Amino acid sequence: MTNREELNIALIGFGTVGSGVARILSTQAENIAVRAGRPVRLRRVVVRDLCKSREHLPADVTVSTDLQDVISDPEIQLAVQLIGGTDPAFDYMTRLLAAGKDVVTANKALLYLHGETLFRQASDQQRTIGFEAAVAGGIPIVSAVTQALTGNQILSLEAILNGTSNFILTHMLDDDKTYDDVLKEAQSLGYAEADPAMDVDGTDAAQKLSILTQLAFSTRVPLESFVKQGIDGLELLDLQVASDLGYKIKLLATSRLNDDQLEMSVQPTLIRADREIAKTDGADNIVAVRGDAVGMTRFSGAGAGQLPTASAVVADIIDYATGRTAVTFESVLRTLAQPDRTVQPPGELSRRCYLRFTVDDRPHVLADVADVLGRNGISISSVHQEETSDDSAARNGSARLVIMTHRTTEGNLRAADKEIGQLSSIQGTSIRLPVAD
Ligand code: NAP
Ligand code: HSE
Repeated sequence: MTNREELNIALIGFGTVGSGVARILSTQAENIAVRAGRPVRLRRVVVRDLCKSREHLPADVTVSTDLQDVISDPEIQLAVQLIGGTDPAFDYMTRLLAAGKDVVTANKALLYLHGETLFRQASDQQRTIGFEAAVAGGIPIVSAVTQALTGNQILSLEAILNGTSNFILTHMLDDDKTYDDVLKEAQSLGYAEADPAMDVDGTDAAQKLSILTQLAFSTRVPLESFVKQGIDGLELLDLQVASDLGYKIKLLATSRLNDDQLEMSVQPTLIRADREIAKTDGADNIVAVRGDAVGMTRFSGAGAGQLPTASAVVADIIDYATGRTAVTFESVLRTLAQPDRTVQPPGELSRRCYLRFTVDDRPHVLADVADVLGRNGISISSVHQEETSDDSAARNGSARLVIMTHRTTEGNLRAADKEIGQLSSIQGTSIRLPVAD
């Protein structure tokens, strides 16, 4: 092979994922050349801070802080955009596309907010965007939905899509560690975003669900149109109570066709402990896809971290080198151009529910709560209250009340929330979580 046949690439960003990509490109160079049909050469890297020491950076790579160095290099065909957030990532992507570069990215926040504009620009300029690593890290779910499962009408997606949240939920319960300590660990392992708020408040999972939903159901659903709740309001107590009841709590992202309407939500959810999705622990993700022809399929594995994410990015680079990206990207553009489906109003979401209250330990309290639920059309499936001491010196005057409901709507629950919040017997914050069937 001559040098002219090489694919010359640039990495924009050389943090957790960028350095992982460089590592795979160098350790797997020969295999990659075989699979890509030509050698892949990392020529340039753009970073913010030239003084940082860089692991896995080959000596012959030119490092700069100026995107223009990539834009004006005619040898660079493909730019791999691995800067987080949208500023300057959006500006960089538009400049790269305008300069005739094809792009691969792992940035889901960017694709969620500006995907439509970027895809249109890429299409207008006959360029491509590869984005396997933007959803579920190392799990090839974008390829599954845009290639392997395209013979199906997808009926539902049920997923864990944020590695950091799953890591926190797992280690708080299993190792009895505090939320803050496990979050710090997730940050040091490279799972969390630069600002981990988006990991724990459900935004990252919701953005990924929105991207997958667009691919699977040809419908763009903004985060404001569905229920989104993170793990940041959860307490260890709820993980323990759920476990005693035979459930695990997971940040569950769901997108489902319901009588031609799309039902969507991202919420910490009680899932029976023996289900595959409940057994997905640590930074792993899982996506269960039900198709009308294939039935249920499940994709699971590392949803975050340096090498798993880099694995997906390198696959995109190889797909680009072989020409596969150009074919898939055109098909994705046609899919996205289909008319949107209607999204079910959040108030109509119908699920079973877990309610936890701290209440005054005195007569009629349970009756008052049950009355509110009943008047709002919510039927109780079980009530759990631990026995409290009768010894007045030992009593602190409060009791923990856990109620599991039958299936009811989000609208009914919201109405009941308001009324229960006004009961004088309720202490502190009440917790309400859906229960998956
Ligand atoms: P990171 O470790 O924070 O690295 C970001 C890189 O971008 C750094 O090298 C930084 O330069 C560079 N950068 C930031 N602003 C820049 C600017 N204005 N100009 C030039 N370079 C700039 O982030 P990461 O974890 O690798 O994530 C990268 C992307 O992948 C994000 O969109 C993230 O959401 C996504 N992603 C991450 C994971 C994961 O597990 N980490 C998984 C899937 C997707 P300096 O090094 O000089 O600061
Ligand atoms: N911060 C993200 C997560 C990285 O924890 O899932 C993978 O997208």
